[in-house]
Amino acid sequence: MTRTQVGIIGSGPAGLLLARTLHLQGIDTVIFERQSRDYVESRIRAGVLEKGTVDMLRTLGADQRMNKFGIPHDGYALAFNGRLERVDMAKYAGDGVMVWGQTEVTRDLIALHLDAGGIIKYESPAIAIEDVETSSPKIIYEEDGVTKTLVCDFVMGCDGYHGVGRQTIPADKLKTYEKIYPFGWLGILSDTPPVDEELIYANHERGFALCSMRSHTRSRYYIQSELGDKVENWTDDMFWDELRRRLPPHAAESLVTGPRLEMSIAPLRSFVAEPMRYGNLFLAGDAAHIVPPTGAKGLNLAASDIFYLSRALIAFYSEKRTDLLDRYSEVALRRVWKAIRFSWWFTTLMHKFSDDSLDYRLQVAELDYLTGSDAGKTVMAENYIGLPFEEFE
Ligand code: APR
Ligand code: PHB
Repeated sequence: MTRTQVGIIGSGPAGLLLARTLHLQGIDTVIFERQSRDYVESRIRAGVLEKGTVDMLRTLGADQRMNKFGIPHDGYALAFNGRLERVDMAKYAGDGVMVWGQTEVTRDLIALHLDAGGIIKYESPAIAIEDVETSSPKIIYEEDGVTKTLVCDFVMGCDGYHGVGRQTIPADKLKTYEKIYPFGWLGILSDTPPVDEELIYANHERGFALCSMRSHTRSRYYIQSELGDKVENWTDDMFWDELRRRLPPHAAESLVTGPRLEMSIAPLRSFVAEPMRYGNLFLAGDAAHIVPPTGAKGLNLAASDIFYLSRALIAFYSEKRTDLLDRYSEVALRRVWKAIRFSWWFTTLMHKFSDDSLDYRLQVAELDYLTGSDAGKTVMAENYIGLPFEEFE
């Protein structure tokens, strides 16, 4: 039975950001990942980084490719009622975002951590977490078909919505909140130039659409799809035709289409589990909360949790302090809930929920107000670039 300081379950953004941050402070970790490295590095995920996430990647030395190929954006557009209104983030919130795929973030963090001697056990699922109420919690895992045990000082559930971390917290100690949206997002990835220089979020009577990108030659588009819809129901041409119908005229005319590299459907939910700590088990990222992708908050909330959790662990190992560990859940959740709220609000503002024309006109009126008011544009800008982290030291 071997031992480490911090056992981490999951090599997604949360687990990797934490392991890299702790490694730079000389704190030993082991990451358990149930999938293969190739599988993890091939997952198509979102592509907008808040300033706090960009700063974290820079601090961790994971920014070389981002600095070279990432695309800084100072604004994004809201399309509604045939109009295209820009939200100037630089003007109304004093900053912007970085367009850089989560896939690339993950690849860079994995390479960096392994090159520095970090331990990531791929295809080694954590099957249980035990003794979390003691000072020696254990991760029971499988490696090459053999069941093994790792003893830790702390266990980090960075294992996403379906992971074992949250399930280890006794049901009577955990409060969960969930909202399932009555639609999904059908997404396409294509090697075509983006339709515009910045992202376009479109509210249309037929449904929501989003024009995003991965580079100047690779685009990512989404259209709101019916619950139960399947990728096999859609040809590339059907997707492109429906996307055009939902865009303002200029964008529809300049859209460059091409064959899919990937097409997938994602369900939309809001979810929060409280608290994000039980004994010496801590949750971070999707293990504790899920947002609809409308506000591009998923990856950024994982980074937000790690901003706080890494500081708490470093304070423990460097000064034997437990106060930040005790405050982690409360402080992390304060920022989580504000992002959950914005993602829910932006989703309700931009998507079709019914055929009731009044609902649509109310959404158009709200978008007309927000884009015609400095206060409204400030709300749209400061929430999108990410609200500030609280002092935590
Ligand atoms: N044992 C080992 N690994 C596990 C287990 C387990 N029992 N259960 C899940 N995992 C792994 C998954 O294979 C995945 O690689 O945990 C990782 C969790 O990573 P994410 O789901 O990416 O979650 P997180 O790191 O919190 O990042 C959140 O990633 O999925 C996106 O939309 C999400 O943008 C958000 C971001
Ligand atoms: C993406 O590029 O995949 C993306 C961008 C913005 C979002 C969601 C997804 O809000």
